Amino acid sequence: MKKVRVGLIGLGFMGSTHFRIYRELPDAEIVALADVDPRKRAGDVSSVIGNIGNADNSQPLDMTGVKTYDNGYDLIKDPDVDVVDICVPTPDHAGLIVAALDAGKHVFAEKPFARTLAQADEIKAAYARAKTYLNFGMCVRSWPEYRYAWEQYTSGAYGKLRSATFRRLSPSIAGNNWDDWFMDGKRSGGALLDMHLHDTDQVRYFFGRPKAVTSVGVTGGVSKDAVDHVITFFHYDDGTVVEAEGSWMAPKTTPFEMSFQIICEKATVRWMADGFKVFWNDGRVETPQVAATTGWHVELAYFIDCVKNGILPDKYQTFDSVLDGFKINAAEQQSVDTGKRVEIRY
Ligand SMILES: NC(=O)c1ccc[n+]([C@@H]2O[C@H](COP(=O)([O-])OP(=O)(O)OC[C@H]3O[C@@H](n4cnc5c(N)ncnc54)[C@H](O)[C@@H]3O)[C@@H](O)[C@H]2O)c1
Repeated sequence: MKKVRVGLIGLGFMGSTHFRIYRELPDAEIVALADVDPRKRAGDVSSVIGNIGNADNSQPLDMTGVKTYDNGYDLIKDPDVDVVDICVPTPDHAGLIVAALDAGKHVFAEKPFARTLAQADEIKAAYARAKTYLNFGMCVRSWPEYRYAWEQYTSGAYGKLRSATFRRLSPSIAGNNWDDWFMDGKRSGGALLDMHLHDTDQVRYFFGRPKAVTSVGVTGGVSKDAVDHVITFFHYDDGTVVEAEGSWMAPKTTPFEMSFQIICEKATVRWMADGFKVFWNDGRVETPQVAATTGWHVELAYFIDCVKNGILPDKYQTFDSVLDGFKINAAEQQSVDTGKRVEIRY
């Protein structure tokens, strides 16, 4: 295979971020784009606003050599497409993922990979019958600071866990997106599913599946009916305290924050406003050098490399590990709704 030919579905905040990354990757080529909005199909992303890593969207994207479609299902049929990258609103992920896998395409789909557990099952079945690769935009798995901490922690360098806290706090995105779909809980799953999912996934990835969760949330704070701010306690029932907080409720002028602190027997690793540091119990303070890039760049470069070279893309994720985190999100929503600790049962 020469260059990996990508067909992108959805050119909003995430789609335009992916578009720019593919343009930088020597082994990738964007050959097709589908979007319901004709301005996006012409490369006009001036209406796109994100909550993190905002690019200058004032100039149109260069659509030279890119075929355009007004819906993703037609793009999926295009024989010139090797990889289908799905960046549409969450409820539409499942249908497109299943269609693309069934059409024999490799698929990279944004998170949350599904909106409901029933959709997750449909995707699982489609992936089981597919011979192609599937990865999801669980970008925090490959975000350099989180990845470094994960590698060190899981190698045993810091010793046993005592406590951990993860934060993902966004300014409000009300009114920022196509059809304001994030503010409709039925479509987005609120900040609980859309943002906090990353930290729930990190907790499981670092420390394994918790026994239970207790979550408290503010519902309908800025959205119609969704959890806009959530705090979860992950119960391991072993004397540790593991907790995460996610929000998109603060005023639009509030800076975005993604941060964590993990206290272990021998050291504390943290990425906070004072930088990325490891504080050892013996007094040493380390500033690990990690690549100055984003998890978005790392995950897409990795996936393209795997497709090009026929390597199963399982360095950062397996389907089942992402599904596992997604099921914990469902338990968190249940805990918010009932006010009770919810056991994690599969
Ligand atoms: N990994 C991350 O860090 C991250 C960050 C932001 C968003 N996301 C995820 O990416 C996905 C997209 O979010 P976004 O912020 O880019 O949304 P957005 O509203 O900015 O963009 C959605 C785009 O899809 C188009 N669209 C809508 N329905 C469509 C359809 N059926 N077919 C084709 N095009 C369609 C819209 O015109 C728009 O261009 C969501 O699932 C979101 O959760 C991930």
